[in-house]
Amino acid sequence: MSADDRRAVDRIFTNVGKSIAAFERTVTQGESPFDRYARGEIGALPVAARDGLGIYFESGCAQCHHGPSLSDDSFHNIHFDSGRIDLQPDLGRFEGVDALRGSPFRADGVFSDSPSTGAHLRRLTPVESMRGQFHTPSLRNVSRTGPWGHGGTFNNLRELITHYAEGRDRRGDLRTTGELDPAIGPFHRVESTITSLMALLQAFAAPPVVP
Ligand code: HEC
Repeated sequence: MSADDRRAVDRIFTNVGKSIAAFERTVTQGESPFDRYARGEIGALPVAARDGLGIYFESGCAQCHHGPSLSDDSFHNIHFDSGRIDLQPDLGRFEGVDALRGSPFRADGVFSDSPSTGAHLRRLTPVESMRGQFHTPSLRNVSRTGPWGHGGTFNNLRELITHYAEGRDRRGDLRTTGELDPAIGPFHRVESTITSLMALLQAFAAPPVVP
């Protein structure tokens, strides 16, 4: 492909991406039972989910999953399996940084509408602590988006919550790598704890509002 053709393809690719992003920004979420509860409608949140909310704070979920999208918009290593057939771990942010630095589509790149907002990317370099880190996902509608984890290795939320409750450092296990985030620690793995957290995750769901 000639350099001109390549540039034309990149331009079309960028414009399609920007159009989809512009549409996505117009889609909002309706009020979930959790939102109605937060607004003061106490009865909107089932009792089990209310118990789950207490556990959510006590066991540290809110340290990373907080704010309107229930994400700190940061990166952490919580030792979820990669799900790769060759049993190798995913390096996550560690290799993602290099891919980003080499990409013509970065926020400070030639296709950006506002290169200054991505200026910080020039200082970004892979450091050891990024190994195995992934972006904290939003928990809105999470009960409807399985399988879960970056490798899609959790087929149900019970398994995922049990992983958190064990709070085990899995370094050295196949499919995980790097240091476990210090905010992850074990908590009571009794049945009521797990079902209450599951009820809470379900209460984060609401249908999207499409304009
Ligand atoms: C140290 C930060 C941190 C804490 C504390 C934390 N999480 Fe997470 N959570 C993450 C990150 C990062 C991911 C994505 C990890 C991955 O895919 O490797 C994630 C993923 C998830 C997912 C899967 C989302 C999806 O779409 O696949 C759920 C559900 C979840 N967390 C719930 C919880 C609950 C419940 C707690 C408390 C018991 C909790 N988290 C505590 C950072 C955290």
